[in-house]
Amino acid sequence: MEKILKISGVPVTELAKQYGTPLYVYDEKRLIQQCQSYKQNFVHPDFTTEVLYASKAFSCVGMLRLIKEQDLCVDVVSMGELATALEAGIDANRIYFHGNNKTLEEINYAIEHNIYHFFVDNLQEADALKACIEKTDKVLSVMLRINPCIEAHTHEFIQTANIDSKFGISIYSRDEIKVLIQSLKTHKQIVFEGLHAHIGSQIFEKEAFIKEVQTMFSFIKDLEQDGYSCPKLDLGGGFAIHYTDQDQPIPIHEVCQTILDACAQQQVDQKTHVKTIMIEPGRSIVGEAGSTLYTIGFSKQTPHKRYLFVDGGMSDNIRPCLYQAQYDADVATQMDSRKDQKVCVAGKCCESGDVLIPEIKLQPFSQGDLLIVYSTGAYGFSMFNNYNRNLRPAVVFVKDGKSRLIVKRESLEDLLKGDVR
Ligand SMILES: Cc1ncc(COP(=O)(O)O)c(C=O)c1O
Repeated sequence: MEKILKISGVPVTELAKQYGTPLYVYDEKRLIQQCQSYKQNFVHPDFTTEVLYASKAFSCVGMLRLIKEQDLCVDVVSMGELATALEAGIDANRIYFHGNNKTLEEINYAIEHNIYHFFVDNLQEADALKACIEKTDKVLSVMLRINPCIEAHTHEFIQTANIDSKFGISIYSRDEIKVLIQSLKTHKQIVFEGLHAHIGSQIFEKEAFIKEVQTMFSFIKDLEQDGYSCPKLDLGGGFAIHYTDQDQPIPIHEVCQTILDACAQQQVDQKTHVKTIMIEPGRSIVGEAGSTLYTIGFSKQTPHKRYLFVDGGMSDNIRPCLYQAQYDADVATQMDSRKDQKVCVAGKCCESGDVLIPEIKLQPFSQGDLLIVYSTGAYGFSMFNNYNRNLRPAVVFVKDGKSRLIVKRESLEDLLKGDVR
């Protein structure tokens, strides 16, 4: 094995020298492969299908240009994500607007920019949307986010469909939902298109998705019996990825087949008339394609631990602090050595909880070596924060031995730009 790790043919030392560290590095071919895998496998003779990239996982103009080239739709949850998608040249008709508390400013901005697809998350939002659209002569498509009340086996902070979830209208509020659908269907400027559900993130069990499909089809049957057709069903995202060797995610082709076969079976069993099935993968498109490079700084020994400090931390990757997310890593400049050094990888932020990996065996290292943390491509850059006024790292894409800058490293000038003096 070579001493210096290469990503897509580019030595990490070259990347660190050219762009500085911390650095978010994406393998562009891998991003494309993931998109293609969803496009090719999420197809079924009984349905039309659509794959929406959940851009919250990693949103910037460069990434969304890639999504446009791969011909995926995009889901956004804020004016910022929406503006990024538009700036990347995504067609307004291929953008879907999510969110449990869209502000009037955001709704109006979306309407102004000809966004057609809205997910309505709660009863009050439907009223707000109606009031906004009535001030125009436009028409909107609406799908309702239903909370199917399925508890997937994932961390409670990334479950989104337990009974007390803040997202969606509970499937147990059937009468309220029917009244709402009736009011949407009879509105002159709204086309009611169907239902949406999303049961959580980093889900490993096929059974959870099958349960979701069964629950939603049985609900659609109930609605159809009352005369409400639901031509579209969006089943959300949540497909798990590999962070450490304890993770065994379902391969994309299997997850797609499982979901679509379950839909086809339910369509027959429930005698429903669903035409389109949609999914919204985020993490599984970008997660494993991305890594973070850090420079190793000081280290210290305490009675029970040996700390390795890096030049980033909870500001560039808050997931370990937020929900005990686990990661694998290597000393990327000592790849030919044995991983026999037990350390705790901690960041540079003023918080005891600023630990990226509580315990890991790594290659022997010295100050100035580079550390690579794998599978940081989802919810790393997008959850960046300026705690301690740390500067946001650059983002680069690498492909076939070449790197290109996607997001510039934040400068002190950028950092201070909004401060009124
Ligand atoms: C509505 C919705 N769709 C899609 C996603 C993407 O999930 P993931 O990144 O796990 O695929 C999320 C994430 O929480 C979500 O809330």
